[in-house]
Amino acid sequence: LFLVPAIIIPIIFITRKKRRLSRQSFGIANKVSQHLNQTLQGIKTIQAFSNEERETKKFAEAIHSANRNAYRNVQTSALQSPLLEIMISIGLCISLIAGGHFIANDILTVGDFTAFLLALTAAYKPAKSITGLNNSVQHGLLAADVLFEYLDSEPDIKDAPNAIELKKGEMSIDFKNVYFSYIPGEPVLTNVNINAPAGSVIAFVGPSGGGKTTIFNLLERFYEPQKGQILINGKSIKKYTLQSLRENIAEVSQDVFLFNGTIADNIKYGAPSATKEQVEKAAKAANAHEFIMKFPKKYSTSVGERGQLLSGGQKQRIAIARAILKDAPILLLDEATSALDTQSEKLIQSALKKLMIGRTTFVIAHRLSTILDADQICVVQGGKIIERGTDAELVALDGEYKKLRDIQFRKTK
Ligand SMILES: Nc1ncnc2c1ncn2[C@@H]1O[C@H](COP(=O)(O)OP(=O)(O)OP(=O)(O)O)[C@@H](O)[C@H]1O
Ligand SMILES: [Mg+2]
Repeated sequence: LFLVPAIIIPIIFITRKKRRLSRQSFGIANKVSQHLNQTLQGIKTIQAFSNEERETKKFAEAIHSANRNAYRNVQTSALQSPLLEIMISIGLCISLIAGGHFIANDILTVGDFTAFLLALTAAYKPAKSITGLNNSVQHGLLAADVLFEYLDSEPDIKDAPNAIELKKGEMSIDFKNVYFSYIPGEPVLTNVNINAPAGSVIAFVGPSGGGKTTIFNLLERFYEPQKGQILINGKSIKKYTLQSLRENIAEVSQDVFLFNGTIADNIKYGAPSATKEQVEKAAKAANAHEFIMKFPKKYSTSVGERGQLLSGGQKQRIAIARAILKDAPILLLDEATSALDTQSEKLIQSALKKLMIGRTTFVIAHRLSTILDADQICVVQGGKIIERGTDAELVALDGEYKKLRDIQFRKTK
């Protein structure tokens, strides 16, 4: 009976090795598709920070390592397959001879021996499928091809042939009779006019779906208005290079997008050369330093895929730190609709107040306390600005804004 372990041990060994290999290749395929997912979902954030080139490079590196691993796996399994077959054949021969001997001497019953043979064949099949493990890597590589195509595809919005740099400095923003629809015939903005002198704070309030975030999308040139013009310092934004336009805009968006990486990486996203001190300074100004220091790994804490390891309020403060570090003259704040606890809301609001100083700011607010002292408040409803003025002026007007305000301040008191 001592022959049995002699057959089983190599099988166990091979199965283990196979398990390790498939776990490895699964990990690689997973990493590639995770990266793919993240890039597609974070595309707006990547573009807003003009980081397309950096992402493409990072991805190329991931693919390269996946390729290398796939090659190694193929090599190993190619070697393993014949080895396995020889071993199994020898094992089968020995066990048949031994089995015959044992049965003849009444040590084993025929039933026991049949069960043993069946178990052996069952183990043989999964061991043989080792050559198939490369498949998952191939899937990942296919996904990579698709992504490269996507990143390389000609963008709809391009620089004008003689586009100029938008230089850092004071920025005034004007929207002139802007009309826009995502889907032809279904206008989202009609005849929108905004005048924001350099350094002013313009607030947007109004019901969900009114078109507020769309105003931001147009200013960042993710889309182009079908009619009308958007001007920065008196010139159409189409006249500036896309890169320089976006370099001058920092955005804290409605759904903060964090990349799988450390907290520090995410804060540095718009300024990769920033030092540790600069990162910390920005985090302090964003009221994020304190909670970051509570993690065992501090700034090296991984945020998880899409930042799922952080709370909504923490994610927002990281995004604010990111915007602070970018130090752009135009600031776009799209307040999250999700409710935050009063404590983190206060921390976020005080961080935002500091961030607005000296910048031309567009702020979308769901909590009116953020914008009471804005230079101008625009009520956006059904794609139109239906009321505009300071808080006092709009209260005096006694219209939609007054209604919103009454509801909110009654609720909170
Ligand atoms: N990419 C898109 N493609 C097609 N329609 C869109 C797209 N983005 C937004 N819309 C539509 O445009 C309208 C305005 O959307 P927008 O995101 O600007 O609203 P909002 O005022 O920011 O709302 P909320 O307060 O909920 O954030 C909505 O009807 C929305 O369904
Ligand atoms: Mg919105």
